[in-house]
Amino acid sequence: MGGGHRLLLENARQVVLVCARGERFLARDALRSLAVLEGASLVVGTDGFIKAVGPADAIQKQFSEETFEERIDCSGKCILPGLVDAHTHPVWAGERVHEFAMKLAGATYMDIHQAGGGINFTVERTRQASEDELFSSFQQRLQCMMRAGTTLVECKSGYGLDLETELKMLRVIERARRELGIGISATYCGAHSVPKGKTAKEAADDIVNNHIPKLKELGRNGEIHVDNIDVFCEKGVFDLDSTRRILQSGKDTGLQINFHGDELHPMKAAELGAELGAQAISHLEEVSDEGIAAMATARCSAVLLPTTAYMLRLKQPRARKMLEEGVIVALGSDFNPNAYCLSMPMVMHLACVNMRMSMPEALAAATINAAYALGKSHSHGSLEVGKQGDLIIINSSRWEHLIYQFGGYHELIEYVIAKGKVVYKK
Ligand code: NIG
Ligand code: FE
Repeated sequence: MGGGHRLLLENARQVVLVCARGERFLARDALRSLAVLEGASLVVGTDGFIKAVGPADAIQKQFSEETFEERIDCSGKCILPGLVDAHTHPVWAGERVHEFAMKLAGATYMDIHQAGGGINFTVERTRQASEDELFSSFQQRLQCMMRAGTTLVECKSGYGLDLETELKMLRVIERARRELGIGISATYCGAHSVPKGKTAKEAADDIVNNHIPKLKELGRNGEIHVDNIDVFCEKGVFDLDSTRRILQSGKDTGLQINFHGDELHPMKAAELGAELGAQAISHLEEVSDEGIAAMATARCSAVLLPTTAYMLRLKQPRARKMLEEGVIVALGSDFNPNAYCLSMPMVMHLACVNMRMSMPEALAAATINAAYALGKSHSHGSLEVGKQGDLIIINSSRWEHLIYQFGGYHELIEYVIAKGKVVYKK
């Protein structure tokens, strides 16, 4: 053959493909065990996409004449797909560590929200912050996520609520998308909270009449690319009617529906999402049986957020029931000033212990199924030829250590690679 390639990863103890037949998601029996090769190598081309993955000796023969910009000896180590974090709120100013103390002393999330704290506190600080300030803290957070193995992350706006600040947040996300190594799926979440002085209906009117048309215009000009639309559908926040109007209007402009539903109260959000053709619904601690069945039929993925239930001491989402019914279960860190966790390995561990998921289920939920939740599983979420060369190398002879060693990811993760380029080396 002859010719150049970007990267050769040689002779790994395990290469966790996750899936190997072009599956867009894994559900039901497909989650019993994941596709894993032993003693394997992997090649990424100069375009950043995977060119070959297979037994080490076969790859060596096939590529013996070729040159590589970088070769990494993976003997005794494991290669996994880069992790996908399907739900984060990473652009904001204003710490809320004081609220953590209040919650430890017994206050609920809604007690704090209704007293003007919570999201509204962060909204005030974020409105005051400059774009550069927001970018700088956001960039640091993204770097921490990358060091924890995340190579594709969903990032929401939603601490502006007014059009000006929502656009400021989306510009910050757009800048990161263009400048940084990590992959980003951008979500407009202007309906994250009802702004002071407005009713939910008035806020929904403003979003539908002013925000969404502006996003459409900026998307057409190529200024800001937004992938998803989100609403916090919750008692005392956006009711089902306002949620429906906002999501439908976003969908009509070409955005994927991906929203917060059935978190603190049963709202029939899952039923609504399935009806509207949502790509994903997050939280679902209070989802109904009918909602679960509707999501399974509609292939609407459930983005479960173990950190939220853990930190707010909520009842756990019924992951086992969802898995049994064939729902496409994904995971997200829900990183935000309420749930300060940047680590998908810790999220997978919590999902296993608190939501009773198996380790293969948790890894699939943090790779192929999380990519599905973002509409990107054709190019992300598994190590298959033709997919983007996003992967991590861990210093251990079995991949499960990444989940088992709670908080041990700093020691385990040696390389994080995005599009075949090393973006973090221990
Ligand atoms: O997903 N539930 C709504 N939104 C966030 C919390 C955001 C915040 O408290 O700042 C969540 O947990
Ligand atoms: Fe959230």
